[in-house]
Amino acid sequence: MVSREDEYYESTSFDMRNYLEMRPPYSDRLYGYVYQHHKGSWGNALDIATGPGMVARELARRFDNVVGVDFNERYVETAREVSRGYSNLTFQQAYAEDLSQFPDNHFDLVVIGQAAQWFKNEAFEEIGRVLKPQGTLAMWFYANGYVPGDPAATKVLHDIFFKFNQIFPYTKDTDEMFQRITSGLDHCKLPQHYFEPGTRRIRFNYKDGLCVNPPGVYPCRVSLPPCEIPDTDEFVHIEDPEILTVTKPWDWYKRYMSVLIPMEHLDLSEVYKDEFEDLDKLLAGKTVKYSWAVSMVLARKKQ
Ligand SMILES: C[S@@+](CC[C@H](N)C(=O)[O-])C[C@H]1O[C@@H](n2cnc3c(N)ncnc32)[C@H](O)[C@@H]1O
Repeated sequence: MVSREDEYYESTSFDMRNYLEMRPPYSDRLYGYVYQHHKGSWGNALDIATGPGMVARELARRFDNVVGVDFNERYVETAREVSRGYSNLTFQQAYAEDLSQFPDNHFDLVVIGQAAQWFKNEAFEEIGRVLKPQGTLAMWFYANGYVPGDPAATKVLHDIFFKFNQIFPYTKDTDEMFQRITSGLDHCKLPQHYFEPGTRRIRFNYKDGLCVNPPGVYPCRVSLPPCEIPDTDEFVHIEDPEILTVTKPWDWYKRYMSVLIPMEHLDLSEVYKDEFEDLDKLLAGKTVKYSWAVSMVLARKKQ
């Protein structure tokens, strides 16, 4: 199988431990939306593209047995190291597109945090196969940070993110990835023979958070063909700045954008120089609450 994200993560100085340390943690509220949707039992859960295993560790508090998989062996190792002491949690190397080590109808819940944009559509077939009837698929993606109640600082954060999207090198599949994130994961194709009508597509904080580069606000990097989703899918807009948030000294965001997503050959503090200066003018010395827009898709396997 051709690996795509490997090309990015392996070719940069990307460090999973940095990622774990710097990234905004998923809140109990975020997991709450997933658990509320879940009608199945609480036996087996699978966290696909687990990275350092953050989501898997949360699931291990709720489910009898949890498996985290990632295609990157190094991340699987990191996840194991930082998850010592969890007796009901294991990690394995696997591609989302090939879950053949798992039987049909096995998992009550499958979760994909911040990674479904990378998957080929075969992954969603595989997920349909391994889910139990009435089991839940939950996936989410977050993009633009914003500062609740501060439109000027929010605009600068959006400008930074827009620039980030322009320079983002990634790989051959970048167009597909951008379609998926710009559409709030609606371009991830869920096979209708597996999933019940009524998939929920929740947009959190889209007004302030924008989420990527909606056409008409910033020029979109890719063309966006219509999404092939059923009419029965339910779109929900929720304003909830607590869904994904951190409260940090103002310069944290500069470090976050510089360290978390390194680009080879590019000095990011130089790339974002003007925007970083604007942030200094607006926020210097303050403790700032940063929040994010999040797209969440909640689907249920047919009986
Ligand atoms: C942004 S990280 C998200 C980590 C974790 N889910 C979280 O939310 O903290 C993306 C992860 O997706 C993994 N990944 C990307 N494409 C994958 C695929 N097709 N199969 C398995 N893992 C994949 C990468 O190795 C990386 O660990």
